[in-house]
Amino acid sequence: MLCIGHRGAMGHEPENTLLSIRKALALGVDAIEIDVYNVEDNLVVIHDRDLSRTTNGTGYIEERSFAYLRSLDAGKGEQIPTLLEVIETVNRQAIVNLELKGSNTTKLVVELIQRYLKQGWVEEDFVVSSFNHYELHQVKAICPRIKTGMLIYGLPWEYLATAQKLQVDMVIFNLDFVTSELINSVHQQNLLVWVYTVDRPDDIERLKAWGVDAIFTNYPERIILN
Ligand code: G3P
Ligand code: CA
Repeated sequence: MLCIGHRGAMGHEPENTLLSIRKALALGVDAIEIDVYNVEDNLVVIHDRDLSRTTNGTGYIEERSFAYLRSLDAGKGEQIPTLLEVIETVNRQAIVNLELKGSNTTKLVVELIQRYLKQGWVEEDFVVSSFNHYELHQVKAICPRIKTGMLIYGLPWEYLATAQKLQVDMVIFNLDFVTSELINSVHQQNLLVWVYTVDRPDDIERLKAWGVDAIFTNYPERIILN
């Protein structure tokens, strides 16, 4: 079972910062998940639409300038990182799982990944995921080589048929809704099952026994040392 550091290692360091990414790498994660927005055609890494929870700024991220975002403290003096900075920091030491959060991210994200693929990085270095399944469709339409993960919350009606139509590589369940029967039905379609966000040791054990392929955690050491 792979260990995915959630927003880096947000149980230890400010989420979605380079400090958090480095902590996750130091803990030996297999993958790092981060959240992506487009601000003035710059891809930046932050979770909320509103800046106030994770930075000393205010307002909606997509209504602010890139220069303003870069002037903010995202925790412990860290800047809001660009996606490029995150990828360069990871530098193939782990899979980068980019979650498309904001609008108009798809084209720029695909172009960036394609640039890395041309430089010798491989498909397995990236996974693009989103709750916005139209965006996932768009990713595969532009570049079928890119791996995609269909994020779901709850249990959407006929989600497996959607997963197949979208040609995703994995279905990503919320912990509260996943069961061993669901895991088996996804595996039968030759798709992987990832589960978010799992911090409790008893949940980690149960999901491992059920054959889940990867879990997102805020505390990677709880999976890696398991
Ligand atoms: O990708 C898994 C998880 O990060 C999705 O939920 O709200 O933490 O972005 P959220
Ligand atoms: Ca996320």
